[in-house]
Amino acid sequence: KYGALGLASSYGLSRLPAFAQSPFPQPRTLEVLRADGVVEAQITARQSNLTLSGKPARLMTYGGFPGPTLRLREGETVRLNFTNNLPEATNLHLHGLHVPPSVDDPLALVQPGESRLYEFTVPKGSAGTYWYHPHVHGRVAPQLYAGLAGLLVVEGPLDALPELKGAEEHLLVLKDWLFSGNRIPAWTHMDWMNGREGNLLTVNAAVRPTLRAQKATLRLRLLNASNARYYRLALENHPLYLIATDGGFLEKPVELPELLLAPGERAEVLVRLSRPGNYRLQALPYDRGAMMMHGGMMGDQGMGMMDHGMMDHGSRGGMGDTGMMGSMMGMGATRLETLLTIVAPASPKPLPLPASLAPVERLEPARATATRRFELGERMMQAEFFINGQMFDPARVDVRAQLGSLEVWELVNKTDMDHPFHLHTYPFQVLSRGGKPAPYRAWKDTVNLRKNEVVRIAVPLRDFSGVTVYHCHIVEHEDRGMMGILQVK
Ligand code: C2O
Ligand code: CU
Repeated sequence: KYGALGLASSYGLSRLPAFAQSPFPQPRTLEVLRADGVVEAQITARQSNLTLSGKPARLMTYGGFPGPTLRLREGETVRLNFTNNLPEATNLHLHGLHVPPSVDDPLALVQPGESRLYEFTVPKGSAGTYWYHPHVHGRVAPQLYAGLAGLLVVEGPLDALPELKGAEEHLLVLKDWLFSGNRIPAWTHMDWMNGREGNLLTVNAAVRPTLRAQKATLRLRLLNASNARYYRLALENHPLYLIATDGGFLEKPVELPELLLAPGERAEVLVRLSRPGNYRLQALPYDRGAMMMHGGMMGDQGMGMMDHGMMDHGSRGGMGDTGMMGSMMGMGATRLETLLTIVAPASPKPLPLPASLAPVERLEPARATATRRFELGERMMQAEFFINGQMFDPARVDVRAQLGSLEVWELVNKTDMDHPFHLHTYPFQVLSRGGKPAPYRAWKDTVNLRKNEVVRIAVPLRDFSGVTVYHCHIVEHEDRGMMGILQVK
């Protein structure tokens, strides 16, 4: 499909390098001091030279990639000290955790050499899979892409269910990379438009690793830590049993033939190895509507055209006709890739599925005190992104809401590309997608909007007042304007 495109290989659609299969690495667990319900921990951001799939790589990390997993328990008090040893400002966002915005403040920066203390209580009922990463507006894409990401796991009483406790747990951080030599190259205009994808696909920084299972039931905690790549996941010839989404457990396992994981999203699945042999976890082709440009487009001439605003979104049908720009077309999707091979034990006997998990609160949209509309827009050729026609302005409050209220938000994607919409501080539930009611109740903090799709969510604005943000989790789009401020009081 993209064979004719000379740019394809430089944009990361080329074949994967022939790396050998590696054994399955687990992210290390962050060491914490735990006493009397209080946990103390230290996370440090630094430049690091790592070996990624046998090749040296110059990255920014929290000490290895993925960063050390912060394992917390429901109800405990956390004193997390964060130190920035990078030569640039950064900070730490606790993605998905329901903690006060004054703590998880995306607008507060930590300067080089400085530290900041994040002190919060892990909410009851929040058992699940979260993550942490930087949130410096304008620099999120380069910092996240360079390796600043780690998992945050909250454990709760439900983890003691025999059907979960008896499973073999693995953390899977999915991320792609693009290198030039051992460095991550500077962002091109096209990267800012589409979000950068890379040609090196990794699970816990390993290329196509092999997981030798000891048990016949696996509990996989998945995170898409990529800037822009979508993973349409499937286990060849076997269903996945979804047990938790971004904000924790479902009411009961949901059998899925495949699972779409947009950037920023997490999911927990049970995998039942019912026969000996190999089970391949694959990323199926997915077209998120990113653009591919061809010809001298990205040269000076092309950039000049963009500056003159001649290439607004909507005009691209005509661009090929001018002959000046060469052609632009859908980037085509990601192709089928094997991410991981799971080798079942010799005589597998999977556990039964849990009959029920945790009750998920039923929100009553009829009780909502406000219905709001958020329209995602773009000026693609300028790589400018909007919510309700405006680019992010830290000095502007976009939405004022009342503490304790329930709101219905209608998220409308007016662009030709998928965007994962993420709200800080307040977990929400999806009510409907394209007019169709959600098939099950689930807590989310990031929801994908397909091109031209309308998704309705119910947002309880409870417990904490303050100033927080919502944005696209293709972090290039966040950096380039697709973010807004919500003030709750
Ligand atoms: Cu994971 Cu505001 O981001
Ligand atoms: Cu986006």
